[in-house]
Amino acid sequence: MNADQSLRIVAVVNQKGGVGKTTVAIQLAATLSRRRRVLVVDVDPQQSSVWWAGNARSALPFDFAGRPNVLVRLRELHATYDVVLVDTPGSLEDTKPLETVLDEVDFAVVPLTPEPLAVEPTIRTITTLIEPRHVRHAVVLNRIDPRIPAQLPTWRALLDSTWGIPRFDTHLRQYKTHADAPVLGRVVTTLRDNRSTAGVIADVTRLGHELSGMLEPAPVGSW
Ligand SMILES: Nc1ncnc2c1ncn2[C@@H]1O[C@H](COP(=O)(O)OP(=O)(O)OP(=O)(O)O)[C@@H](O)[C@H]1O
Ligand SMILES: [Mg+2]
Repeated sequence: MNADQSLRIVAVVNQKGGVGKTTVAIQLAATLSRRRRVLVVDVDPQQSSVWWAGNARSALPFDFAGRPNVLVRLRELHATYDVVLVDTPGSLEDTKPLETVLDEVDFAVVPLTPEPLAVEPTIRTITTLIEPRHVRHAVVLNRIDPRIPAQLPTWRALLDSTWGIPRFDTHLRQYKTHADAPVLGRVVTTLRDNRSTAGVIADVTRLGHELSGMLEPAPVGSW
């Protein structure tokens, strides 16, 4: 098999709770499913992704697995899927499930909300769990409020200059559509495209394109 076509396993991780891991995992799965065969694996005991999928009236454009033990056989899934997205728990205590996931993945997406309390757990996740495994990773700023003009440049500068943490160029803005999506079982590909959903669809679509670019084989000499 050509390396370009091999399975890519992507974890959405941050030990800080509530930063948007489930939102990012499910919405990325939806947008990537336009061009790839996608599986979502939910290893969070809360099973939020599975709950979200259960609320969907129409079929979602990707498959689901709620059982963590699927992870053991992930690499065997390459004939069936192009991308596996793993939704993980936000916990500072029991890091074992997260470590098991990070041992298997090609890339880690780290959602971060612009809140001071989210900073320390996010940096800890990256420096103690992701970097030691040499897993390629990038932060995606989530819940950015366009009514606060200084917010985005401030948080980008913190990531780029103060902490030196790689990030996506794309950020996700704060929208009620995101907050309503789980209970309605909606994803970007099943939302009606109108004035109130256009921002969500645009942000997630752009993030999907950016992630796809990052999942291409790394140039020789880099990781
Ligand atoms: N960009 C956004 N705009 C508005 N609401 C958002 C956005 N992103 C996430 N939310 C909401 O914030 C809450 C937390 O998001 P989510 O459940 O995705 O986080 P999580 O990191 O998976 O949490 P946990 O650590 O508990 O698993 C949810 O109610 C979600 O709908
Ligand atoms: Mg979650």
